[in-house]
Amino acid sequence: MIANDSISTDEVRDIYRKRAKRYDFTANLYYLIGFREWAYRRRAAAALALRPGATVVEIGCGTGLNFPLLQKAVGPTGRIIGVDLTDAMLQQARQRVIEQGWTNVELALSDAALFVFPDGVDGILSTFALTLAPEYDQVIQRGSEALAAGGRWVILDFKLPDTWLAKLAPPLAFLTAPFGVRLEMASRHPWESIARYLPRFWLTELYGGFAYIAVGEQETEEHVVRVPDLPHR
Ligand SMILES: C[S@@+](CC[C@H](N)C(=O)[O-])C[C@H]1O[C@@H](n2cnc3c(N)ncnc32)[C@H](O)[C@@H]1O
Repeated sequence: MIANDSISTDEVRDIYRKRAKRYDFTANLYYLIGFREWAYRRRAAAALALRPGATVVEIGCGTGLNFPLLQKAVGPTGRIIGVDLTDAMLQQARQRVIEQGWTNVELALSDAALFVFPDGVDGILSTFALTLAPEYDQVIQRGSEALAAGGRWVILDFKLPDTWLAKLAPPLAFLTAPFGVRLEMASRHPWESIARYLPRFWLTELYGGFAYIAVGEQETEEHVVRVPDLPHR
């Protein structure tokens, strides 16, 4: 069945409560249809250009599948803040954090629409999550305002291609429907919000345009070179 009716935030939460325990397994099944999920996750994490000691927020972090990539980037002196709507998904993330012995991860149970970003974060990541939030535009705006100079917002998510391939979307909708992704969400364009709120912007289309990585970068601090006053003659 093609799922193209709207879905509320409560319904999204219910879906992920049911999926939480098997989420990691089912998410990896996308490999079976040739979706290079991990290559794309690595590209998205690398696009954050994080340095050791950096603070990064992940919106819709789910079970924390990206945390190993973020840990590698920020190191033990860095800080990772995972935000998610669904208690059961965060419970899986908490288990991962305990098993790995990470002491620099904070988990926040919150709708992204209500989350207050700490000031001066170095990076914000969201993979396969932000399009599920009807208020994605405000979330991106507030995140952009919280970014430190040179900080980056990176989104990896699904979208419809701009080509004839879009015709394949209705028959393929069953692939994403179990994750709460509906065809009507294709009208949500988070990459346009990234382009709107941040001065530098890049978009890379993946998988025939069915997925993308959007990167926005906050203004970098200008290094003003002062010319010394010349003596009057
Ligand atoms: C497909 S999973 C992605 C999880 C993780 N980012 C990943 O790539 O594996 C979507 C996640 O987004 C979360 N989510 C959906 N709507 C949200 C919202 N409005 N605020 C915060 N999290 C949300 C869900 O609870 C779920 O954990």
